[in-house]
Amino acid sequence: METKIFDINIEDIDKNKIDMAANILRSGGTVAFPTETVYGLGANALDEKAVKKIFEAKGRPSDNPLIVHVSNKEALKDLVKDIPKKAEILIEEFWPGPLTLIFRKSDIVPDIISAGLPTVAIRMPSHPIALELIRKSGVPIAAPSANISGKPSPTKGEHVVNDLDGKVDAIIIGGSSSVGVESTVLDVTKDIPVILRPGGVTKEDIREIIGKVEIDKSIDLGMSDDIIPMSPGMKYKHYAPKASVIVVEGDLEKVISKINKLKNEKTMLGYKIGILATEETKKHYENSVIMSIGSRKNIDTIARGLFDTLRKFDKEDVDIILAEGIERKGLGYAVMNRMLKSAGYNVIKAGD
Ligand code: TXA
Ligand code: MG
Repeated sequence: METKIFDINIEDIDKNKIDMAANILRSGGTVAFPTETVYGLGANALDEKAVKKIFEAKGRPSDNPLIVHVSNKEALKDLVKDIPKKAEILIEEFWPGPLTLIFRKSDIVPDIISAGLPTVAIRMPSHPIALELIRKSGVPIAAPSANISGKPSPTKGEHVVNDLDGKVDAIIIGGSSSVGVESTVLDVTKDIPVILRPGGVTKEDIREIIGKVEIDKSIDLGMSDDIIPMSPGMKYKHYAPKASVIVVEGDLEKVISKINKLKNEKTMLGYKIGILATEETKKHYENSVIMSIGSRKNIDTIARGLFDTLRKFDKEDVDIILAEGIERKGLGYAVMNRMLKSAGYNVIKAGD
């Protein structure tokens, strides 16, 4: 299929192009668009046939439910059975923004969206192009990240074009995503809300507003230090570049020397090595493909750079990526979750 490309400037949004993209959505087509977290691949959430096209274009397993995007807080009411008090407080604080909430779904939400679950995930993004597109389309928009299933999420228009050109009706190119990791998914159907995916709004941020919050066990289990991914269920690959990724965590000086040691060993075996470093540490490496994701002094830059850097290594055709770990707090918790998933939880503690 021919994919229409709409280039839109976030500073000066072309209403005509938004109208054309919104028409495609209204008539059952698929449109990829920028959000502040990552690019999404949208379709009318109330049109089962349209939503099916998302799963086909991405090669996404049908048992993975989708997030429904709205352009205003009122639109939520039709989609859910009830809005718990804590959800109301969180919405006031964090919407529009990178927080997805899980509610009990209303009957108008098709089963294909929720993968048969009795719940639905909803988010109001803050990106002006996303908001305008959803508003103009006049319907709630289902949108997973706009990548081929299993690949790193797209944070630039070119990433989406690389993955989905020819597979979707239109792609809106609208700059780089400012957050760079996906939204936090929080289940608010429970008395104590549970984080199902760490993301752009941190657990510390949420705790400050509503007090107690739990973290789904599978997140930390997957992230524990000495997990060797032997069981097939644990080894699900996500955010994966072509190369295999090894994350090295611990005291920074030891991390650097461990990575250098591994680089020498693997290079001797004939592998082409990539090193995922930071502004502060890149000078300590040589004789390999060295890329900085951002500055350790500003975790926001690291979140923004992660997926783009993983994709850049694909272009360099490296065999193994040795990645420096980041402290697992604040936004760093979400970054490490993605990094470890991209490595299939292949993580080494430096100094051991
Ligand atoms: O930042 C984001 O959330 C981006 C942008 C485009 O908004 N979207 C995104 O969608 O990351 P996706 O499909 O890549 O991830 C959605 C996550 C998945 O982990 C899915 O399992 C979870 O949300 N999810 C969706 N509906 C759910 C439900 N009813 N219960 C539990 N988890 C759900
Ligand atoms: Mg995704």
